[in-house]
Amino acid sequence: ELNVSDYLRSHIRTVPDWPAPGVQFRDITPLLQNPRVFRVLIDAFVHRYMDRRPDVVAGLDARGFILGSVVAYELGLGFVPIRKKGKLPFTTVEETYELEYGSATVELHTDAVKPGQRVLLVDDLIATGGTMMAGKRLLEKLGGTVIEGAAIVDLPELGGSERLREGGLDVFTFVRFE
Ligand code: PRP
Ligand code: HPA
Repeated sequence: ELNVSDYLRSHIRTVPDWPAPGVQFRDITPLLQNPRVFRVLIDAFVHRYMDRRPDVVAGLDARGFILGSVVAYELGLGFVPIRKKGKLPFTTVEETYELEYGSATVELHTDAVKPGQRVLLVDDLIATGGTMMAGKRLLEKLGGTVIEGAAIVDLPELGGSERLREGGLDVFTFVRFE
């Protein structure tokens, strides 16, 4: 009998040399496509957070939307999207962070979180941690408290989850790929 982590891991596909030579891309689409595995994943997130009392769930563009909105719905909470720059219509706060080549900017509507609210921050995967750290900063700019950063996959060799923890964010993932 498999535990949840191994069950999820067995439904993540590794695509060699994508999007660039030498990269082993961890693809969660087989997991999402299988209704039993998708349910196990969402139920495990819901079970973890129902007693930690978040007020709102924030999801990171784009795969964090797929997971975060379902988790929010099941917890009886609202969902707020953290989007790549230029997509949100209302007033926003923004954060720019460094990528391997160049930089990226993410935005959040200024009314997405109220001061003092407890936020669960969701994405599919943590690589360098830059995306999740930018999300944390955005939520804190509005006075929110991020209770945890949650993802399916951590790539520990890239140091992201360690960097996030050093930056004061609790991080939870199911699967590590060394
Ligand atoms: C991927 C992934 C995370 C982020 C992780 O998204 O879904 O959001 O990168 O990398 P990091 O920890 O180094 O920041 P991507 O930027 O490919 O966007 P997408 O979801 O729109 O494809
Ligand atoms: N899979 C999905 N998203 C990613 C990856 C990966 O291996 N690396 C950086 N972002």
